[in-house]
Amino acid sequence: MGNVYVFDHPLIQHKMTYIRDKNTGTKEFRELVNEVAALMAYEITRDMPLEEITVETPVAKAKCKVLSGKKLGLVPILRAGLGMVDGILELIPAAKVGHIGLYRDPETLEPVQYYAKMPSDIGERDLIVIDPMLATGGSASEAIRMIKEMGARNIKLMCLIAAPEGIERVQKDHDDVDIFVAAVDEKLDEKSYIIPGLGDAGDRLFGTR
Ligand code: PRP
Ligand code: URA
Repeated sequence: MGNVYVFDHPLIQHKMTYIRDKNTGTKEFRELVNEVAALMAYEITRDMPLEEITVETPVAKAKCKVLSGKKLGLVPILRAGLGMVDGILELIPAAKVGHIGLYRDPETLEPVQYYAKMPSDIGERDLIVIDPMLATGGSASEAIRMIKEMGARNIKLMCLIAAPEGIERVQKDHDDVDIFVAAVDEKLDEKSYIIPGLGDAGDRLFGTR
């Protein structure tokens, strides 16, 4: 079964408080989501392989480490996943970005597909599927299923807030996928919104309703 990692660094917890606050406006919400995504990416990439090279400092030769060129891919689930992309790209500018278009039907709660475009070398990349919210887990599970069908092999899932139900669903459907979150909340409400959550992530990021 995939593991669940909760990144509760004080900086992340502080920023998450203002992300949750309904009085935080669109501009600040967007900035905070990108900042938390970058902090989480810093932790997630802790196991990236390094190789040794030699450089010359102004005074001597030094054996130093550089990333060994492992290829990364980000896979935001549209729309709300887009809100995390820029923050991660600030740290990992060479990452390729694939897109999965899904929305949750408000009546059935089933994910509805409308777009999929992945890097051509998807099978050679470590992929991070990103979405601020893991509620029932239907969208994330379907996105992971879709990219596996397209050839993805090494997949991680990164969300800001997860409900226990969403974690359980992804673990059941994809036991090879580790899940990284900033918070695990209490439960889902009758409309399958995360409680206490942050509301509708896409609407808050893009100023829609
Ligand atoms: C939200 C969120 C997830 C999904 C989570 O997207 O960004 O993709 O719901 O719910 P689930 O775990 O129950 O599937 P939404 O469907 O609102 O689309 P949007 O990003 O276009 O606003
Ligand atoms: N999607 C959201 O944006 N928020 C939730 O709480 C659940 C699904």
